[in-house]
Amino acid sequence: MTHVMHRSMSGVPPLAVSSSGNFIFDSKGNSIFDACGGAAVSAVGHAHPRVLEAMHRQIDTLAYAHSSFFTSEPAEKLADFLTANCPGDMSHAYFTSGGSESVETALKLARQYFVEIGQPGRSKFIARFQSYHGNTLGALGVGGSMWRRKMYDPLLVEGHHVSPCYAYRGLKSCESLEQYTDRLISEAEAMIFALGPEKVAGFVAEPVVGATLGAVCATPSYFARLREICDRYGILLILDEVMCGMGRTGTLFAFEQEGIVPDIVTIAKGLGGGYAPIGAVMIRSSIADAIRGGSGAFMHGHTYNGHPLACAAAMAVQEVIHDEEMLANVKSTGKYLQDQISARLAGNNCVGDVRGRGLFVGVEFVSDKHNKTPFDAEIKFHARVRQAALARGLAIYNMGGTVDGRSGDHLLVAPAYSIGKAEADLIVDRLVSAIDTAQQEIAAHA
Ligand SMILES: Cc1ncc(COP(=O)(O)O)c(C=O)c1O
Repeated sequence: MTHVMHRSMSGVPPLAVSSSGNFIFDSKGNSIFDACGGAAVSAVGHAHPRVLEAMHRQIDTLAYAHSSFFTSEPAEKLADFLTANCPGDMSHAYFTSGGSESVETALKLARQYFVEIGQPGRSKFIARFQSYHGNTLGALGVGGSMWRRKMYDPLLVEGHHVSPCYAYRGLKSCESLEQYTDRLISEAEAMIFALGPEKVAGFVAEPVVGATLGAVCATPSYFARLREICDRYGILLILDEVMCGMGRTGTLFAFEQEGIVPDIVTIAKGLGGGYAPIGAVMIRSSIADAIRGGSGAFMHGHTYNGHPLACAAAMAVQEVIHDEEMLANVKSTGKYLQDQISARLAGNNCVGDVRGRGLFVGVEFVSDKHNKTPFDAEIKFHARVRQAALARGLAIYNMGGTVDGRSGDHLLVAPAYSIGKAEADLIVDRLVSAIDTAQQEIAAHA
C-alpha cells in the first residue's frame, strides 16, 4: 500500500523512473512521449544537459540561503534577466515556489500598494468565470471555476466574476467580434460599478486561458480595452501567465501579443521548466516605488523565496530557450501542430474547436458539432481520450468542465519548445487514434 496521498485515492499512478528529452520512462518499461510537459511545464524537455550541469554546479556552491539574511547570485541574475526581457517598466521580480504562491503574492502586493498610496478602501478583485489561478485560498477565491471552489467556499477570499472572452461559446450568431468584445467590456465595467470603482484593487486574467478552457485566446482588442477600463478606474491589471507565459505562446510573455503592459504578471511553470519548483511575480516600477517610498517593505515572504538552486535551474532553462532559438520554433512548429490537428480532426463530429497559440493547442470536444452540445459529464470523454493516448505512449493534459465547470471536455497539447515536425506528426497520429478509440468506447456503451 502507498503512504503517499496521491491526487486520486482510488489507485496509484505509474511509477516514473527516468526521463530524457521528450520522454518519461516508467517502471514497467513504458516510454511515454510527453506532449503536455505535465501541465505545460517542461519547456525545454527533460534532462537537458545544460540545465543539469547548472544545477549540479549550484548545489556544489550554495544550495540554500534564507532570503531574509542573504541574496544570491542566481536570484540576482534571474531577476536581471526577467526585468530586462519583460516589456514595459517592470522593475522587480519577486520569487516564489510556484504558480499559486505567485498569485497569492500578486493579490497581497496589489492590496499593499493601495494601502501605501492612501487608497485603503481598495480590496476587491474581479476575475473571469472558468478561470483557474491556483488552489491556495486567495488564488482559488479569485478563480472562477465554481466546481473547484464549491467545497472550500466558506474559506475563500472574496472574488467577483465576469464572463471569459471565449468566442467559441460566447459569441452570438448576430454579433461581430468587436460587438462581442464591447459586450464583455461593458459587463466588466458594470461589475466595477456594482462593487464601487474605489473599492476594486485588481482585475485578474490569463492572456491565453489554459487548464480550465483549453488554450483560449481573447478577441483581438479585448486586452487593450480591459487595460483602458483598468486605467480609467485606477485598477491594477494582473495577468496570470503561470501556464501561458515564458515562451509557451511564442513570445517570452504572452501579453506581448496583446499590445499592452500589465501592472503585475505572475509566472511559474515554464520559468523553471520542471527542473525546480519556482515562480515569480513581475512588478511594475510604480508599485515597487510606492512600497519603497512608503512602508519600505513588502509584508509577505516564504521560506523558499529566491531559492538559489531553483533560480539557477530557471536561469539555465531561460538560457537554453534563448540560445537554442526556441521561441521561433514555438511559433513555426506550433502553427504546424495546430494546423495538422485541425486538418486531421476537421471531419470529426466530436471535435468542436481546435485553438491556441504557439505550442499551446487546445481541442474542445462536443457530442454534436453543429449545436456545440457537450458530452454528458458522466461519460468523462476527456479522461477516455487521455487513457487511450497513454495506451499509445502519449501524455496529453485533459480536463472536464469546459462549459460551466461541470460539463464540457477539452485537452491541451503543450510539448517542449524544441519539437520538430516529426515529433508533431507523432503527437497528431497518436492523438487522432486515441480520440477514435474514445469515440468507439462511448458508441459501444450507447
Ligand atoms: C493560470 C494558472 N495560474 C495558477 C496556477 C497554479 O499553479 P501551481 O499549480 O504551480 O500552484 C496554474 C496551474 O495550473 C495555472 O494554470
